[in-house]
Amino acid sequence: MTQLHDNIVGIDASILMHPRVWEASGHVENFHDPMVDCKQCRSRFRADHIDLNAACPNCGTRDSFTEPREFNLMFKTVMGPTDESGTAVYLRPETAQGIYVNYKNVLQSGRVKLPFGIAQVGKAFRNEIVTKNFIFRTCEFEQMEMQYFIHPSQDDEVFETWKEARMAYYEKIGIRMDKLRFKEHGPDELAHYAKAAFDIEYEFPFGWQELEGIHNRTDFDLKRHAEFSGKDLTYLDDQTRERFVPYIIETSAGLTRTLLMVLSDAYEEEEVADGDVRTVLRFHPDLAPITVAVFPLVKKDGLAELAREVEKELREDFATFYDQSGAIGRRYRRQDEIGTPFCVTVDYDSKEDQTVTLRYRDSMEQVRLPISELSSHIRKAVKE
Ligand code: GAP
Repeated sequence: MTQLHDNIVGIDASILMHPRVWEASGHVENFHDPMVDCKQCRSRFRADHIDLNAACPNCGTRDSFTEPREFNLMFKTVMGPTDESGTAVYLRPETAQGIYVNYKNVLQSGRVKLPFGIAQVGKAFRNEIVTKNFIFRTCEFEQMEMQYFIHPSQDDEVFETWKEARMAYYEKIGIRMDKLRFKEHGPDELAHYAKAAFDIEYEFPFGWQELEGIHNRTDFDLKRHAEFSGKDLTYLDDQTRERFVPYIIETSAGLTRTLLMVLSDAYEEEEVADGDVRTVLRFHPDLAPITVAVFPLVKKDGLAELAREVEKELREDFATFYDQSGAIGRRYRRQDEIGTPFCVTVDYDSKEDQTVTLRYRDSMEQVRLPISELSSHIRKAVKE
């Protein structure tokens, strides 16, 4: 967002903000889920996720649910020396509001003009009734949100542009496109702030689920924050002299959820030869935690020292890993399992002719290369 666009700036807003921020945003009033308990086994469910006329999914008892109760998803804590004298504050349930309350600061200091975006990556907290499916839904998670401020007349067009751009992003990081789709929110599903909303869904091992939301938030947020703070949040176009409250198109992705998707998408158990199965994480090289692993064929005869030297040089440009223990085949497999796209092996010939073997994770193909060309070769392969 910030590196490849001229008009998107990054910020890092607070997790704890003035409690009125969450009144202005509508979260105090609207951010809740209906919850029911089973009177028999005490299991807790979101009322909108189960059939209340059916038996309890956990213990099978009929007519055992309590009346649905509204359950606010924000975590509350107290700012001040004692519970009695302190003020109740909330851990932010989304990073977006930190951007809206900093919109004017960015406008005044960031040398930006409409249209422009503000992006941030950060922790968000929700008191989820049910957390499950590993890290798919947790109470503490990370979001990557971007708020794009525009003239109201451009909302439909910009909304479409960001929808496409976000899908293209997932293609760029190597996700299988047949596992991604858009899902439009119907009128009864729209959040209180949204005029239009599309989710990008991914087909996780447990089914199609939301990964990211793209929302047309209109001027709802800036108008509400202006009302609650008493600040003027209008924008003056110095060309047309028109003054207006910008509309906001939001792209809101879960980083934690993206991680789960990337892991699910990359994981494969591949039969490589007569019943021999390798586990491989086919991460896009840009996402792999380690880009290149370096091994000496054996530890002795100066090969370990030469391999260390090669690894040190590559470390300037890539995330590297050095491993000298175990059979070479097992070392390759270990790197396949953690998704390392390239392995380099230093052998006896390397000492003579300064060449090494480069092995590709996906094809398992091996090529011989001069040490001096390794870095540029890998850099090129990462970009392919
Ligand atoms: N600012 C708008 C907003 O927060 P959202 O649809 O509630 O919209 C956006 O959340 C994204 O944040 C979701 O698509 C999901 O990826 C992630 N997310 C939301 N709740 C989450 C949770 N409890 N655990 C993990 N990720 C979550």
